[in-house]
Amino acid sequence: MRLRNIPGAESALREYPTFVDHPVSYKGRWNERFGNDNPIHIEIGCGKGRFINTLAERHPAVNFIAVELKAEVVLRAVQRTEYREIPNLAFVQFDATQLTELFADREVSRLYLNFSDPWPKTRHAKRRLTYASFLQTYRQVLKEAGEIHLKTDNEPLFEFSLNQFAAERFQMRNITFDLHQSKLAEENVMTEYEERFSSRGQRIYRVEASCQIK
Ligand SMILES: C[S@@+](CC[C@H](N)C(=O)[O-])C[C@H]1O[C@@H](n2cnc3c(N)ncnc32)[C@H](O)[C@@H]1O
Repeated sequence: MRLRNIPGAESALREYPTFVDHPVSYKGRWNERFGNDNPIHIEIGCGKGRFINTLAERHPAVNFIAVELKAEVVLRAVQRTEYREIPNLAFVQFDATQLTELFADREVSRLYLNFSDPWPKTRHAKRRLTYASFLQTYRQVLKEAGEIHLKTDNEPLFEFSLNQFAAERFQMRNITFDLHQSKLAEENVMTEYEERFSSRGQRIYRVEASCQIK
């Protein structure tokens, strides 16, 4: 997601109670920050945050953590929370390539990947968030039956991701090549990118993948 560079974004973030500064200090003890033992669901690349904010409202018994690389993008996401404390929602500015610095083994129950950058050039395949090395990292932080829920408008990325999941022995279910026309549409929470792409008539692809073998 490209947003204009916002001077002072990093210090502005610290004003928001949902933003977590020095998040690595919570590795292995995120539940202490939330004050409960509820499951932890994370979104990698939350963009402007509509998806995770909506889920946090709908599911108070789940702790949600949004992981986003860019400060100016996290700022847009936390601004939605309007300085409110939301007990089950936290935002961190962090690079998902370093996810094992942020979460202990088996600390996370579910991981969402929504409209991740497709990196269409073959020489950039390793940057795709479903490249094998990322899946291995996700498996490490996910609980034994942990799940990855992926949505994209990008058919080549979807195909690539299905193959990577299969190669890494994830078990796949609820696969759809047209989410909005499927039985899964009713429960679907749209992201900003999803709304933009589907309003142009593009189909949305979705899959759930769970860790089968550790
Ligand atoms: C195409 S946008 C999609 C945003 C949102 N999920 C949506 O569907 O509206 C992808 C987002 O992933 C973030 N991102 C890319 N690589 C990342 C990484 N390694 N760690 C964390 N976030 C990343 C980008 O900064 C961007 O905001």
